[in-house]
Amino acid sequence: MNTLSQLITKEMEKGFVEAGYDASYAKVTLSNRPDLCEYQCNGAMAAAKAYHKAPFMIADDVVAHLQDGDCFASVEAVKPGFINLKLKPQFVADFLQQMAEDECLGMEREASPRTIMVDYGGPNVAKPLHVGHLRSAIIGESVKRIMRYKGNQVIGDIHLGDWGYQMGLIITELEKRKPDLPYFDENFMGEYPAEAPFTIGELEEIYPTASTYAKEHEEYREKALHATYLLQNGHRGYRAVWNHIMQISVADLKKNYQNLNVDFDLWKGEADVQKYIPDMVQRLKDEGFAHYDEGALVVDVCEDGDKKEVPPCMILKSDGAALYDTTDLATLVEREELYRPDEVIYVVDKRQELHFVQVFRCAKKTGIVRPETKLSFLGFGTMNGKDGKPFKTREGGVMRLENLIQEIDDEMYKKIMDNRTVDEGEAKETARTVGLAAIKYGDLWNQAAKDYVFDVDRFTSFEGNTGPYILYTIVRIKSILAKYGQPEGGKLEDLCLRAAENEFEKALMLEIARYNEMMDIVYEEIAPHKICAYIYDVANTFNKFYHETKILSETDEEKKAGYIALLVLTKKVLTTCIDLLGFEAPERM
Ligand code: ARG
Repeated sequence: MNTLSQLITKEMEKGFVEAGYDASYAKVTLSNRPDLCEYQCNGAMAAAKAYHKAPFMIADDVVAHLQDGDCFASVEAVKPGFINLKLKPQFVADFLQQMAEDECLGMEREASPRTIMVDYGGPNVAKPLHVGHLRSAIIGESVKRIMRYKGNQVIGDIHLGDWGYQMGLIITELEKRKPDLPYFDENFMGEYPAEAPFTIGELEEIYPTASTYAKEHEEYREKALHATYLLQNGHRGYRAVWNHIMQISVADLKKNYQNLNVDFDLWKGEADVQKYIPDMVQRLKDEGFAHYDEGALVVDVCEDGDKKEVPPCMILKSDGAALYDTTDLATLVEREELYRPDEVIYVVDKRQELHFVQVFRCAKKTGIVRPETKLSFLGFGTMNGKDGKPFKTREGGVMRLENLIQEIDDEMYKKIMDNRTVDEGEAKETARTVGLAAIKYGDLWNQAAKDYVFDVDRFTSFEGNTGPYILYTIVRIKSILAKYGQPEGGKLEDLCLRAAENEFEKALMLEIARYNEMMDIVYEEIAPHKICAYIYDVANTFNKFYHETKILSETDEEKKAGYIALLVLTKKVLTTCIDLLGFEAPERM
């Protein structure tokens, strides 16, 4: 289905052609002076150069040819040569009617769907999830949903950090505490126990203890590094401990991500791709891509025109160990082999950008990915506290994700209980739903690459540009529809949208009509924050309409049905949008 701008542009083209000008000047855009008009065309300014005429004369010519027709309520040439447009209410209503009858609300799905992998989340096994991982999860989940909604085949991969030094630390600490376990007995040949020798609680305590201890004790650190090395080279007992760590940690991670309404298609990690490394390294050497530099195996990836130096991609350290670069390259080897993605999107802290520049260049240069495979880095900024520094607990430590979510939920619970519309049990449930919206909207509202301030008070407010405000608006619509008797999920195609009779109704209809145009931009730019900006506008416009209009007490039944149709459509637009952002609305709040 066309966007409203496209439809109006077609009308405008007729005016330009009939007045003797080229149709290419007729592009219509949303007005940037909503006080004066709804849409505008600036083409006369550009045409002026080509036709050696004053822009206003051209605009005037065009306008003269557009006075009748079904589309424009008013077409006006204004100095120095803009064409200001207002639409006929019936034209807008017809457009919304078509939208209501379309499964995707008028948004075109990809004509040739692509396979897209989204690499996001990226938690490190056995280390607690912290707020740094929150942004990747929130943004990545939304990106995945947006790409999928457009009709692509999308695979979300968590890409666990499960092969690093933290594993060696845990093994070393465990051996120190329980040296008699069979994992540490080199002569043990039997089956290792099925039960892990630690709980998740213990595991979470073991890692930080070991990490701190290693920083102060060189010998211990050496031991942990060696344990990492042995694990990575197939030590049987250590591998068994690793399996326990994975089992316990992954179960815990699954629970955490589920609470965030974040869900991965693949739970793969760095360990899974180790098997690709030897062949990959051999090929890079054989084909002359890799060379030794001070003992390390590297691939040069600098390019002419680099403003900053891009250091070589490190394939193997001088001791033969694989690195972060190596793992990401091997992951691409696997992805090519198993999924052949057209695009891979990495949602990672923007401070890792250089790493991805190196990996992408190396993968292209060495043919690990096909030349046409698109590799995209979506780097996000830091989540700061009110002091402008990276978010910390009150005590100054790294804030754990669970605690942060709990803090928001508690605040939401208080506010919902103050409202006194629901009982305690429901309030708990609702607080979680609304709390999650507060966190996600607070994050996604910002352009991903920017740093932002995490402000519990502001994010949990029912007023202003917040998740709870959006949900409150949806709940308000739901409640009106329930009172009217519109069944939940009432069929959109049965609706009958009517031409707006007042400015508030029309403003809402115009806002809703922007939906497919907005979605196209969000998709092209991979910009969830533009969905937030849009639904904030929709919510504001709806609430103005609501305050100015007697909806349920309207006595003209047909008119009332028209309002209800508009509400159903508005609700559908808002709920679709928040689903793409990764949260949902409660029934009451
Ligand atoms: N585990 C990494 C970290 O915590 C993030 C992984 C990002 N994804 C990737 N393919 N490198 O920093």
